Amino acid sequence: MKLTPEEQDMLSGKHGKAARKSMEILTALGEIFDAGYMVDVYGVQIAGVSYANLGEAGLEFLSEMAEDGKVRVLTTLNPAGMDRENWRALGIDEEFAKNQNRVIDAFAKMGVITTCSCTPYLIGNTPHYGQHLAWAESSAVCYANSVIGARTNREGGPSALASAITGKTPNYGYHLDENRHGQVLVKVNAPVEGTDEFGVLGKAIGDRLVGLGKKIPFITGIPSATVEELKSFCASIATYGGTALFHMEGITPEYDRYPKPKDIVLEISQEDLKKARSELIDVDLETDFVSIGCPHASIHEIAKIASLLKGKKVRKEFWITTARPTKRIADEAGYSKIIEDAGAKFAADTCCVVAPIKGRFKGIMVDSAKACYYGRSRNRFKVKIGTVEECIEEATK
Ligand code: F3S
Repeated sequence: MKLTPEEQDMLSGKHGKAARKSMEILTALGEIFDAGYMVDVYGVQIAGVSYANLGEAGLEFLSEMAEDGKVRVLTTLNPAGMDRENWRALGIDEEFAKNQNRVIDAFAKMGVITTCSCTPYLIGNTPHYGQHLAWAESSAVCYANSVIGARTNREGGPSALASAITGKTPNYGYHLDENRHGQVLVKVNAPVEGTDEFGVLGKAIGDRLVGLGKKIPFITGIPSATVEELKSFCASIATYGGTALFHMEGITPEYDRYPKPKDIVLEISQEDLKKARSELIDVDLETDFVSIGCPHASIHEIAKIASLLKGKKVRKEFWITTARPTKRIADEAGYSKIIEDAGAKFAADTCCVVAPIKGRFKGIMVDSAKACYYGRSRNRFKVKIGTVEECIEEATK
């Protein structure tokens, strides 16, 4: 790879051990993918933050990097394994909390903003069109590329941290125009509305893309979509289709930048959506857990939950998972009091997938297709998808 003098200095160790290690990781990646050179990144989002995933080996790597490593660009974290303030109320044990805090402290020492969220774009780690990033969370990567028109590959934990410390990423994959063309034309011939239905659509398309061995759809037939619907769609299509970039006609900023794909056409009908939805509902489900906020709930979603819960009482464990800064806005707006008076709990900094709750519940109801996938595969829950209104009804009935 062609490195600038500053990048060469980092590689030779002039900027310290962590910068050298970081540049080694990035140049190795760049060589594998034939990147040619590095680009500057506007921001970084690091995944693999839960102690449940990292373990002692991951923590050891972080601690070594934290000896002299400092981030050069705005860097935030993906959800951790617990709410950093409210972990006791969520049933997290003391030992796990201690270890999770060691992980967060190592990131903090490096200058990472320790906001743990999969929606960095809602809380200030907000790029604009065309900017290069090194983000790791699959739903956020898909949102950045597709909804914002920024450019990022899906980074692993170490490569994202390396980009944070150097401010660079190798110029390959989704950073390049030639890899951002739509590959499959997808015609949606059914109305789609609500976070749950956009998640169902993401599964319906994602499953078919996997069968075709393609990843970048060009989607028509969606006249409008909210931020919340798009974040749900991104999480779902990234989960079921491995998609990190899509184009949605009239909605995503790059949709008319490249020629429309012609050769492969997929049609999504009402029947397809019905089938995909039925696959996200286990028949023998006994719901004892309801969770909204996958990806992390926006303030709009929290406002809606508060209005639906006002004056009611929940009768099941009910989590609203969100970013800490969004929770603070909810506190100031009075939404948190309404929600907590109803007996629901905020789980900021974490979510129903990364928290260590395997086996604690039998069945989970969510409005997110991604949460269904991981609820089953990681936490061994039975699952059911529904609208936000149906989730609230289930929690209060
Ligand atoms: Fe975010 Fe957890 Fe869902 S990280 S996308 S809330 S699985």
